[in-house]
Amino acid sequence: MLPWLWHHLKPINFDSVLDVFGGTASVSLLFKLNAKKVHYNDLLLFNQIIGKAVVENKGVRVSNDELTLVLTEHNPPYPDFIQSEFDDVFFTQEENAFLDRVVSNISMLLDDEYKRAIVLAALFQSCLSKRPYNLFHRANYYMRTAAVERTFGNKTTWDKPFPFLMHQFVKEYNNAVFDNGRENCVIGGQNALSAPNGVDLVYLDPPYVSKEKGRGTDYLDFYHFLEGLSDYKGWPTRINRSKQHKPMVSLDAIDAFASRNKIIDSFEALFSRFHTNTMVLSYQSDGVPSRNEIIELLVGLRKNVEVHAVEHQYALSKNLTNELLFIAY
Ligand SMILES: C[S@@+](CC[C@H](N)C(=O)[O-])C[C@H]1O[C@@H](n2cnc3c(N)ncnc32)[C@H](O)[C@@H]1O
Repeated sequence: MLPWLWHHLKPINFDSVLDVFGGTASVSLLFKLNAKKVHYNDLLLFNQIIGKAVVENKGVRVSNDELTLVLTEHNPPYPDFIQSEFDDVFFTQEENAFLDRVVSNISMLLDDEYKRAIVLAALFQSCLSKRPYNLFHRANYYMRTAAVERTFGNKTTWDKPFPFLMHQFVKEYNNAVFDNGRENCVIGGQNALSAPNGVDLVYLDPPYVSKEKGRGTDYLDFYHFLEGLSDYKGWPTRINRSKQHKPMVSLDAIDAFASRNKIIDSFEALFSRFHTNTMVLSYQSDGVPSRNEIIELLVGLRKNVEVHAVEHQYALSKNLTNELLFIAY
């Protein structure tokens, strides 16, 4: 959807932008490519690391030798936290040992923060590729091992070795590094409602709360394992062991944008926080708040409110929805 997004953003007169819910950094990269000064923000550490790798980073890349060094087993003993905590949960024990080793190697052997960020970002992608549904929301390792007839090719991807995937994704991240002549930066760990301002345009792509389902997308529950890889030392103290998939203990700031009871207040607070900026919001048409409720909130704050829509079908979803773009200025 990036070309559609840019079609509507290009005519707006702005030089600097804050991507408040930056996620994979794909929209930040769109801004970076178009010579804007980009401030990337996301609450979750693993996303900030992706932002470091490709938004803030102007030219640092990881060489083949450096990657080989990180993937090699050096002087044991290595920690075995993932092996002991996540046995039979997401990956094979051999893969868990690989993860314990590589995370340790990254922090011991790479001094440059952008190199570390590229290798970690590639590690996140490798982990996601090997997961059913590309998520960590269920302890469903058995899906990989079950002796069933398969009619689709996912198992081939799940079984690709980590080192193979790491080479592929480091190459992709290396290729995404460029300098747009601006000082782009990652704003670490800020809740959207308190993210710093000082930019011309604010881009808002919050988690989506569906009208039908009770709860919105809980990114910490879906991707807790990547957050753990990003905070390896702190991970043991952050796990909620009452659940089989051992997610991290949730955060109020996650709940503010995932809970149906809180979402309208959060939108209101978000818009009032950024009411002096040009605000651009991406949201789905069948969500809470609704299209009309969002317009109502925005017209009270800005003179002009435009809404654009495009049909879109999300991966793994059977429904065709309208993706909406609100521009308030
Ligand atoms: C819909 S996704 C953004 C997708 C992004 N535009 C992209 O291109 O990948 C929403 C993001 O909001 C982040 N998030 C959730 N609650 C947040 C909060 N309170 N403050 C900041 N970020 C939050 C999630 O970690 C997730 O990455």
